[in-house]
Amino acid sequence: MQLLRSPVDLFSERGVECPGDLPAAADPGLVDRAAAAKAALGERVFVLGHHYQRDEVIAFADVTGDSFKLAREAAARPGAEFIVFCGVHFMAESADILTSDAQRVILPDLAAGCSMADMAGADQVDDAWDVLSDAGVAAGTVPVSYMNSSAAIKAFTGRHGGTICTSSNARRALEWAFTRGEKVLFLPDQHLGRNTGVRELGLSLDDCAVYDPHRPGGGLTQRQLSDARLILWRGHCSVHGRFSLRNVTDVRARIPGVRVLVHPECTHEVVSAADEVGSTERIIKILDAAPTGSAWAVGTELNLVRRLAAAHPDKQIAFLDSTVCYCSTMNRIDLPHLVWALESLVAGAVRNVITVDSDTARWARVALDQMLALPGI
Ligand code: 13P
Ligand code: SF4
Repeated sequence: MQLLRSPVDLFSERGVECPGDLPAAADPGLVDRAAAAKAALGERVFVLGHHYQRDEVIAFADVTGDSFKLAREAAARPGAEFIVFCGVHFMAESADILTSDAQRVILPDLAAGCSMADMAGADQVDDAWDVLSDAGVAAGTVPVSYMNSSAAIKAFTGRHGGTICTSSNARRALEWAFTRGEKVLFLPDQHLGRNTGVRELGLSLDDCAVYDPHRPGGGLTQRQLSDARLILWRGHCSVHGRFSLRNVTDVRARIPGVRVLVHPECTHEVVSAADEVGSTERIIKILDAAPTGSAWAVGTELNLVRRLAAAHPDKQIAFLDSTVCYCSTMNRIDLPHLVWALESLVAGAVRNVITVDSDTARWARVALDQMLALPGI
């Protein structure tokens, strides 16, 4: 039986070091130090900040966005020698793939991974493809991989004629895939795949089968593989997976007239009970356009929900869960790590560079370019 890899194993695979010269979090000069280092680097550095980052980090971002927008922004800055990516590992990998060889992408803390991306290992996915081949269904199956996956999974997707998608273009990606094959292998987020297939493409829950990489043959029979239209990898987001139907019913009882707005990484049960569903960028747009006095309960990462609540004091914006839960890996990028990365650059030391090997990058780029070529993107 294949054992789950522990976070410690995963961090050591990425070569994580604990830098001894990290500034103390209590240092009152951190904001000034970050500003001074950034000013000293000028146009040589470009800082990207994902919407789920802490406020103290977002304050130094040249641009903020979801993973798709940030990948595009990285690609659009050929003049920046250094891209400092305040986000998680798979995002920095995508930035490295989409930027030139002369540019270097830096992740201020190498332990900032993503538990969902780690749920699909390259060997596991190759094994799954063998299972599909043995069942005689691989030839008619198109892989669609969520941006939240390693470069190796993106390369697998490119090699097998598939596409990458994000939460804002998953529908178009699935529609495209179904014009090329009769089945889709969607990975690694089963919820985004199910929510998109059932809610937006009109598939039934019975059209979906869940492939469990920890069970022989994915835990599926030959018949189940033949009947399925959408084969969903058994992965999920540990943050969005926490929201429950109970959270939705509780908030409706607590706040009369509240509108529930959730990310499609939430379970199908939660998404079905919500009023609105949207990617990070869509959540921001919906709340920007919401009327004064309206009440919202938002099911996505807490740093973003708190920032949205502060930006819209005329609206009542609550966090859907009753307990506090940040994305722990997103939160690893804090001001001390950002200061350390920037000051190292000023001193001529390029730390925590994310590099994807050329063969992986070539095939991953095929799948990323396919996403960028989807109609309407
Ligand atoms: P987006 O960046 O596509 O909104 O995805 C949400 C997420 O969970 C990022 O890790
Ligand atoms: Fe990964 Fe979820 Fe965190 Fe996004 S919010 S980085 S999908 S664990």
